[in-house]
Amino acid sequence: MSATITARIFRFDPDKDKEPYLDEFEIPLLKNMAILDVAFYIQNYVDQTLAFRCSCRIGMCGSCAMYINGKTRLACRTQVTSLDTDIVTMMPIPNLPIIRDLAVDMEPFFAKYKAIKPYYMPKESITEPVIVDPESKERGLIDEMLECITCGACYGACTMVSTNKDYLGPAALNRAYCLVADNRDSAGEERLKLVDNANGIWRCHSQFNCTEVCPKNIVPTHSIQQLKKRCVFKLFGKNQEDNL
Ligand code: SF4
Ligand code: FES
Repeated sequence: MSATITARIFRFDPDKDKEPYLDEFEIPLLKNMAILDVAFYIQNYVDQTLAFRCSCRIGMCGSCAMYINGKTRLACRTQVTSLDTDIVTMMPIPNLPIIRDLAVDMEPFFAKYKAIKPYYMPKESITEPVIVDPESKERGLIDEMLECITCGACYGACTMVSTNKDYLGPAALNRAYCLVADNRDSAGEERLKLVDNANGIWRCHSQFNCTEVCPKNIVPTHSIQQLKKRCVFKLFGKNQEDNL
């Protein structure tokens, strides 16, 4: 790696630009520089108008997801040196409307998340607090899936979302599965109905694009497959025991 890098950044200000364009900046490569640091360097020292979103800077809030050198990733968790090139291309997450530059409107993503009722609805028979044994089979089923930080990287990588804007997408379906698999929850049947349609689980073609980009190593494709199995078993009047 050289002592400088070239940052090519997607720019678009709907108030003044007719078309988006790529802006180019030569900046120094700093020690332990993450892609988010590149954006901050440019904003602090070169062009204060650069718009991007971030918050925690430690891979927890999910707000800094971008399309970096051809892949959706978290800007704060991607080291420049890990890209193995002196040219860094930063684009907004695909499949979402652009507000300005690298900042996208997450509303369509969260609207789908909300559509599957992403909150726990306890059965009437359950008196809180409920103890969940971390070693139990039920907890093991959804262990990794619970780590979702709603960054939208999977949504941006999903070709089914690209071709059908009504598709619920991997993150919403992953969340639906977490709740359907939770036997303390009362709304499993209701959620299965919400996802059992052409804009839900059956739109997924198991291309694993979501899985490839998830910064939390979640496999949304697996969650979707489990939901499909439950729907098929329900059709035949059987209860599905999930595989671990
Ligand atoms: S499943 Fe992974 S990629 Fe998708 S929103 Fe959650 S953390 Fe991000
Ligand atoms: S800034 Fe929070 S995940 Fe990157």
